[in-house]
Amino acid sequence: MNRLRSAMRKGKRARMEMGETAKPKGKRSKTAVKEGKTVDAASACTYHTFPDSADVLLRSQLLRWYDKEKRELPWRTLAMTEADLNIRTYAVWVSEIMLQQTQVATVKDYYLRWMKRWPTVKALAAATLEEVNQMWAGLGYYSRGKRLHEGAQKVVTELKGQMPQTVDSLLKQLPGVGRYTAAAIGSIALGQVTGAVDGNVIRVLCRLRAIGADSTSPAVTEALWGLANMLVDPERPGDFNQAMMELGARVCTPKGPLCSQCPVQSHCHSYHRVQAKQEQISRKLLGKPNRKLSALPDIEDCRNSGTCHLCPSEPWDDELGVQNFPRKPAKKPPRVEQTLTCVVVRPGEEGEEEYLLKQRPHKGLLAGLWEFPSLLLEAENSEVKQKRALCAELNGILGTCLTESVFQYVGEVVHIFSHIHQTYVVYSMILKDGGTETQTEDTQWLTRSSLQEAAVSTGVKKIVKLYDSVASQKEQTSKDGKKQKSTGLKHDKKPPCSKRLKLCAANSSSRQLSLSSFFKTVKEESC
Ligand code: ADE
Repeated sequence: MNRLRSAMRKGKRARMEMGETAKPKGKRSKTAVKEGKTVDAASACTYHTFPDSADVLLRSQLLRWYDKEKRELPWRTLAMTEADLNIRTYAVWVSEIMLQQTQVATVKDYYLRWMKRWPTVKALAAATLEEVNQMWAGLGYYSRGKRLHEGAQKVVTELKGQMPQTVDSLLKQLPGVGRYTAAAIGSIALGQVTGAVDGNVIRVLCRLRAIGADSTSPAVTEALWGLANMLVDPERPGDFNQAMMELGARVCTPKGPLCSQCPVQSHCHSYHRVQAKQEQISRKLLGKPNRKLSALPDIEDCRNSGTCHLCPSEPWDDELGVQNFPRKPAKKPPRVEQTLTCVVVRPGEEGEEEYLLKQRPHKGLLAGLWEFPSLLLEAENSEVKQKRALCAELNGILGTCLTESVFQYVGEVVHIFSHIHQTYVVYSMILKDGGTETQTEDTQWLTRSSLQEAAVSTGVKKIVKLYDSVASQKEQTSKDGKKQKSTGLKHDKKPPCSKRLKLCAANSSSRQLSLSSFFKTVKEESC
């Protein structure tokens, strides 16, 4: 029996059981492929599916490993211990949204703080978007927080405070919840029997079943969901899905996979292929005749490899081993942008300095977050022109008549978003008087401690670090200068702040960084 065909049927059954919208009656799932033809996803060859005997064994091997090796994570604990279904669904929803495109290690602290502050969907609905953005600051992909907030308000106002309780209704009712997220919440919080295919699961399944066609193609996507729906453990769907994710995150990793520790190694076509190759090499070294790859007990190539829509179009590369799979199309290079920005400081009421922040538009990149007054740089231009442009911008915001001479060049900060390579060209300006009363709806003056708590992106935090670093170097240089004066020595070096500093990475802790640490890594963030 064609296992994938059966998986597709089971998958469809699973969806219908969960109340998810079934495809129109009488139509089988047709998926478009490159040449513009349509392919019946259920006609894939058996090489890319599991024999009947394998799935039960794979399930139990994987779950045994998970029970022993799983990480204790706050959302897992909550999903296991929270008796209230509504709270459990909410708690898993929050975790799944935070985990989209963000590593477990980063999410943990944010999750704990979030659940402490807003332990129920009602509590979240009562928060302001500003508070949500503040809480989300530094986590990236800021629209996720906004969607959670919108979703919570919808649940309270339209659904009487009751979280949707089926995969289908989660998908339909909650903004920002797609096919994977609905399946993950449904299986983990509600025990619904559905597979859940995220990036980790794609990698695990592609390697297990040697699926080497473009993993983002509709045909591969449907095949992977079919496999996941077929494999999922009917008794422990949430644990099974999390075990697949855990395997992908910790063993079947993108680089340097730990095949020797894999609990489902015996089911892995890619691993068998690597083993067979090694055996071939050993036989050759020992002068023994070679066996054909396909003659080995577990190795059976796809019988339709010429026409199969799950087989790779590129040949297997021995050097890559199991990392031959999955295959993705090349990423588009990021857009390169330069932004002029200015740290505007004024003396605050109690002698504490205050900083001018402007709110970004409520739609688009970093929507609603606060930043230093900024301008997109259209082309490379001179410092004089940059100062002129900033001067005009700030006079517009503050209603002042500042001159260009008050702007000081500070340095550059590189910040990588998922699709933009952003360089902030940073200036500073100290406002002694005039314009200091400015306070409009989209501007505010914040003390240093408020700035630390504000809804700002990681880019802004890096700019603050560069500003601090340059300021402290300036201070040091002026102290040294005074000392040297008193000893009668001459100091002819320019202060370091006149150098074109380039800040390539500052992590987001509030600790002062040494200049050398600025240059080490580049952190990625998204809008
Ligand atoms: N990634 C997405 N969901 C996850 C979960 N529940 N546990 C670990 N990693 C995940």
